[in-house]
Amino acid sequence: MTDPDLYDFIVVSNRLPVDRVVDPDGTESWRRSPGGLVTALEPVMRASDGAWIGWAGAPDIDVEPFTADEIALVPVRLTALEIERYYEGFSNDTLWPLYHDVIAPPSFHREWWDSYVEVNQRFADASARVAAPGATVWVQDYQLQLVPKMLREQRPDLTIGFFNHIPFPPYGIYAQLPWRKQVIEGLLGADVIGFQRVADAGNFSRAVRRLYGYATKAPEIRVPDGEGGSRTVVAKAFPISIDVEGFEEIARRPEVQARAQQIRDELGNPSTIMLGVDRLDYTKGIRHRLKAFGELLRDGELRAGETVLVQVASPSRERVEAYMQLRDEIELTVGRLNGDYATISQPAISYLHHGYPREEMVALYLAADVMLVTALRDGMNLVAKEYVACRHDEGGALVLSEFAGAADELKNALLVNPHDIDGLKEAMLQAARMSSRERTTRMRALRRRVRENDVSRWSQSFIDAMRHAGSRG
Ligand code: G6P
Repeated sequence: MTDPDLYDFIVVSNRLPVDRVVDPDGTESWRRSPGGLVTALEPVMRASDGAWIGWAGAPDIDVEPFTADEIALVPVRLTALEIERYYEGFSNDTLWPLYHDVIAPPSFHREWWDSYVEVNQRFADASARVAAPGATVWVQDYQLQLVPKMLREQRPDLTIGFFNHIPFPPYGIYAQLPWRKQVIEGLLGADVIGFQRVADAGNFSRAVRRLYGYATKAPEIRVPDGEGGSRTVVAKAFPISIDVEGFEEIARRPEVQARAQQIRDELGNPSTIMLGVDRLDYTKGIRHRLKAFGELLRDGELRAGETVLVQVASPSRERVEAYMQLRDEIELTVGRLNGDYATISQPAISYLHHGYPREEMVALYLAADVMLVTALRDGMNLVAKEYVACRHDEGGALVLSEFAGAADELKNALLVNPHDIDGLKEAMLQAARMSSRERTTRMRALRRRVRENDVSRWSQSFIDAMRHAGSRG
């Protein structure tokens, strides 16, 4: 460490990788949140004297920097109004729907944009304050797209990376954004800009050409430096992954396998358990999945009692209108389907509006014969990879939307267009009826693919790209 408060490697994300827990007696503590990003970056953070900058997840709380699990955490304060405008508003009601192919209509409000600029500046200032000379700063995701430029302006000595966890839309859609030029300019402050898919990197480069006319030759973009010269920005795909070994290790634990059996027993030992695991978000195609499942029950192709759909929908962004509406629609549909098809002892759909610990998720993956990932648009979808990582028995069938980034890698899944309800129904039946031989062949190939690119490889390749950029400059 160069100085007690300066760090050589900094990750900046909207949320800190910890959740604040307040006990009934009022004492506060922090619990590590289970995200894959922390798992991936933990070793790097420890080895290279790292710090994590982010919001502590609640309004108006002032928390001094602290250390949790040997990682230095630097909280950024957000007011209740900023949470409304920057987080719920601009991030999750403007950018989120816009970047996911306008599945829901994006709202454009100038006060939201102003708040986004202000909050991004605060994150950039916090990063500039704690970065050691020549440090590497890695900014995460769509909530912080202006940080790279803001940070470069203050600290040209830094190497800056940005990774976009969600899709980057085609120009025709991106162009709707009233602040489309400012966002591109913000991102171009980075040395390396990472995307989930090759197509996302292509969409970004096209937007740069259309809006700024800069020369691009994949993966490089020449950005004028304002002094007659230029800098090179690398924009390319780095598909994110999961801690494959970690998931497999949990899946091999006897108590987790016993729990999987218990889940099957409690569901009445149906011949087929189908499973959906999503944040309750309109991008995930939960409605399409329910529609297809309902029609299969109606047509008698599937029978309640023999088949059950377990749908875990974890609560998300509950104060944003589109999410409230979606919850109502889904719960209405689930209620109707259960009313029509469940028996006293067996539901047609077991619907769970909760988040669960990782062990319980793994038990569910092991219990499920068919995993349904039917996103209408998804940056990657790590659930698909988690399911594959857990199935060391080489059982289970994965139905995967071609609109999830994961489809670029997981070609041996049953790939579907979730808008095509008949096609989706066919794939669900095919998965339910698949011979164990075909399941094994497909799962073996999927597992090979997931093992080849785990999350540490992902972070390593991104960090290597940043180091390379740093040494060039
Ligand atoms: C997506 C985004 C993340 C975000 C997560 C949960 O995966 O890419 O940046 O943290 O959703 O959403 P939330 O709004 O609760 O942070």
